[in-house]
Amino acid sequence: MSKADDMFQKRLAKHHDELKWLYMELYQNDSMFAELCTNMYQYYQERRQQLKARDEQREKTPDWFKKNDMLGMMLYIDNFAGNLKGMKKKLSYLSDCNVNCIHLMPFLDTPKGRSDGGYAVADFRKVREDLGTMQDLSELADMCHQKGMNLCMDFVMNHTSEEHEWAKRARQGDGEYMSRYFFYHNYDIPAQYEKTVPQVFPTTAPGNFTYLPEIGHYVMTTFYPYQWDLNYRNPRVFNEMMYNFLFFANQGMDIIRIDAVPYIWKELGTKCRNLPQVHTIVRMMRMIGEIVCPSVLLLGEVVMEPEKVVPYFGTVEKPECHMLYNVTTMATTWNCVATKDTRLLKQQMDIVNNLPKEYTFLNYLRCHDDIGWGLDFSVLKQWGMQEVPHKRFLNDFFLGKTENSTSRGELYNDDPVTQDARFCGTTASMCGIESAGFEQDADKMEKAVTLDIMLHAYMLTQSGIPMLYSGDEIGQVNDYTYKENPDKSADSRYIHRGSFHWEQAEKRSDSTTVEGKIFKALSALETIRRSEPVFAADAGVYTYDVHNDAILCILREKEGESFFGFFNFSDKEETAWLQENGSFTNMLTGEKTELKDIVVAGHDFYWVKGKRR
Ligand code: GLC
Repeated sequence: MSKADDMFQKRLAKHHDELKWLYMELYQNDSMFAELCTNMYQYYQERRQQLKARDEQREKTPDWFKKNDMLGMMLYIDNFAGNLKGMKKKLSYLSDCNVNCIHLMPFLDTPKGRSDGGYAVADFRKVREDLGTMQDLSELADMCHQKGMNLCMDFVMNHTSEEHEWAKRARQGDGEYMSRYFFYHNYDIPAQYEKTVPQVFPTTAPGNFTYLPEIGHYVMTTFYPYQWDLNYRNPRVFNEMMYNFLFFANQGMDIIRIDAVPYIWKELGTKCRNLPQVHTIVRMMRMIGEIVCPSVLLLGEVVMEPEKVVPYFGTVEKPECHMLYNVTTMATTWNCVATKDTRLLKQQMDIVNNLPKEYTFLNYLRCHDDIGWGLDFSVLKQWGMQEVPHKRFLNDFFLGKTENSTSRGELYNDDPVTQDARFCGTTASMCGIESAGFEQDADKMEKAVTLDIMLHAYMLTQSGIPMLYSGDEIGQVNDYTYKENPDKSADSRYIHRGSFHWEQAEKRSDSTTVEGKIFKALSALETIRRSEPVFAADAGVYTYDVHNDAILCILREKEGESFFGFFNFSDKEETAWLQENGSFTNMLTGEKTELKDIVVAGHDFYWVKGKRR
């Protein structure tokens, strides 16, 4: 046996028993398990030497991704650079942005017009033709690695497109392939599911099943009718999807975002969300990765409340995902922008800050999806806010309908039954940059930019990895052109999925422009973040009471040094009431400052560090 084989065997030996145990528990199928092991070895052998070296290096430093220089950005390849080859030319811009982790939004083969933004994959081994080839992808990965950057991609494992080879065969009535999805010859069982399973897209794609007249069957489609849910009770589905995962790892991906992971196991009589088998599958995936490609991280997309999100980290002994989105905090942030009251955010941050430091969250202000108002309504209720009217208030506020609101955006999946609606818009538009620009009101613009920068400063202060949404670094506003595109017009999420404005990005070094103001401010903050020990992943992070609900104060402590971040969520000047003895410095201006009753201008912030006495 070669030395390389030795490495594989060692990793396999570490996980074999647990992996087999879980696999048998789910599938009771020895030969399929044997096939999985054979294929894992195959993928290991095919893995390029430089990726194997990356694996070994990262195995020795398993916390490599928790360093405070990590900064992510998510972007659409076509919007940002045209295609994968174009991406290579634009990496220097991303370096300028201090970004070292690039999340490429879905780029695999997907039917035009029936793609859900690429989340309906027709072929897991093929890149969308207009974007390039697999070869381009792995070349991009190599180039990123040379520049010290990581690549992240979506792994859409809950469903395939109706145009996927399996789906086409299933549609022809081939039982082998029908068993890879959920097929029903009448509506009896679907009707039972509908009693307990909530809807993801109540307006744009109501119901969880789609009737296929050509074969007289219903198929389960939790998302759009053209996204067919995969049946993970079938070990063939699990094995093949794991081979796809390993295939992407071998293209040089560093992070695999497991799309819509809570949904992957279905059980009649349940909500079909977060079932225990989902955790078995994710745990198996983690082990498979650790055996074949240990440098690759799993990022779980769990858009749920914290108590549902946290289990996806697994336990310290049996970890599942390496990273998860801090989704409730994101939604709560915008709630606090609208209410100018940070109490809920404090509570939310206390929950996250009290979790074990091993858990790494991805923090963000905006992403490609809508903002669902998944707030802690039991707490809001105690303060007199009821769920339905409060959501209406938030939506009205961000639509710009309430007095003094300068936000712009659109509703998403306005559900007439539950009166629920989610919200779409870019950070800049939600901060008022769009409306100020439209009105050519310099004063309003100043205020909007201040809010935008404050929110980024606050995001960069949170515990975890910050993730920017492409365009936010230059204050890019909503794009309404999607309305003219029949493939997109029904889905308002495209309002914040516009093309990147390179001509605006050109203005980033001119501090008199909006682009320049935001870009420079973010740059300064990111530079501080990556160089100051108080931003280390193992720093203590707490909220600090300043006796004023408009101001959120975050304290970070590391090695005797303390950091105070004051973020004023009100548009009025407010005072943070505190008194700390010691010597402190304003980190942005370098000026010495006292930490006594800090006055913060409307929507402004301070970053202060020093030693407390
Ligand atoms: C994830 C994606 C979203 C997509 C859904 C279905 O939630 O973020 O854009 O619609 O999965 O794949």
